Amino acid sequence: MEDKSILNIDTRNKRLLIRADLNVPINNNKISDETRIERFCSGVSKLLKKNAKIIIITHLGRPKGKEDLSLSNRILLKPLKKYLNKEIIFSSNPISTSAIEGSKRLKNNQILLCENIRFHPEEEEDDTIFAEKLSSLGDIYVNDAFSCCHRAHSSTHSITNFLPSYFGPMLCEEISALNRTLENPSKPSLAIIGGSKVSTKISVLKNLVLKLDSIIIGGGMANTFLFAKGAPMGNSLYEPDLKDTANEILTFSKQNNCNILLPVDIITANKLEKNIKTNTSNYDECPSNQMILDVGQKSIELFKQAINSSKTILWNGPLGAFEIKPFDNSTNLLAKYTGQNTLLEKCISVAGGGDTVSALNSVKVTQQFSYVSSAGGAFLEWLEGKKLPGIEAIKSSK
Ligand code: 3PG
Repeated sequence: MEDKSILNIDTRNKRLLIRADLNVPINNNKISDETRIERFCSGVSKLLKKNAKIIIITHLGRPKGKEDLSLSNRILLKPLKKYLNKEIIFSSNPISTSAIEGSKRLKNNQILLCENIRFHPEEEEDDTIFAEKLSSLGDIYVNDAFSCCHRAHSSTHSITNFLPSYFGPMLCEEISALNRTLENPSKPSLAIIGGSKVSTKISVLKNLVLKLDSIIIGGGMANTFLFAKGAPMGNSLYEPDLKDTANEILTFSKQNNCNILLPVDIITANKLEKNIKTNTSNYDECPSNQMILDVGQKSIELFKQAINSSKTILWNGPLGAFEIKPFDNSTNLLAKYTGQNTLLEKCISVAGGGDTVSALNSVKVTQQFSYVSSAGGAFLEWLEGKKLPGIEAIKSSK
């Protein structure tokens, strides 16, 4: 990574064409969470200190190759100005002559933001002609968008054929935090994996079994594992077709000395509804007219012990139906517990994935974790052990 870090290159007077991920949530024409912008700007500030000229490319939403003004990058101008304390120049077409000329007129420390790159269908087609045109905007290409690195698009992939290519400051920080948990974890190491479906995380579980000492499985995923152990499911969400897969993963974990921890007790209710009456029972006693919606207190204690004896903790996915109270209980308690242990320097903790970040935010422990990734799909593919095209393209570029 070090030799491909933009921070180790002399960038004075150079036009840095930076691929950012400023794909922020928008509700009623307002940005509802600026985390990605704030983080990106802290990296750009480092580059501004090196007297570079900055050209930013990003997508916003999924406009499917068409201009859609409700997804215009203009909405990013105000927060970028706020975090960088600078006027931002805007270009409405990144491959136009005026954008290229505009980039050439930039003085050191000036910033040009281009319109949504996904207004152009060639972007998602990884079109090389489009990438070559884009490359005229810069002297050096910088990828600072880990959360887009699972996409082989023109601005993350083929562009590296046309410019000297480097990793941006935030991407370097993200990769090194992630590598500390998966490639080189302090032991004992633990993953907490939740979410609704095993089917979306089979490859994740298989990869983690090979790399970590223990895995806690919660959420709807755990139901399929409990079903595989013969437990009744009542009206719970589970995937009966994946019974054999769940058993295979359990066997695979034994073969690889990875301890899988499943819930030993469950919280159930007639339906998923706020503050509804709940019932606690052993994992194999789900009433036939109820559904499993969280893990119980005995499981929480068991999982706390695992957290307490771990030096590395990796978290993806909530353990119960955390959007609806009281089924956020185990996720909240264990998130707080992991946060505290991190503050006490008992462990390093890394979390990622949209739902996980919302859960940590809702109990205000995000800052306590060692690192929280805002990447969704890229984080999952990294957990699966896949090579990400955006990263590989820079590694293999000249
Ligand atoms: C994300 O939000 O995970 C990234 O911006 C990637 O977005 P995409 O899934 O639309 O490619």
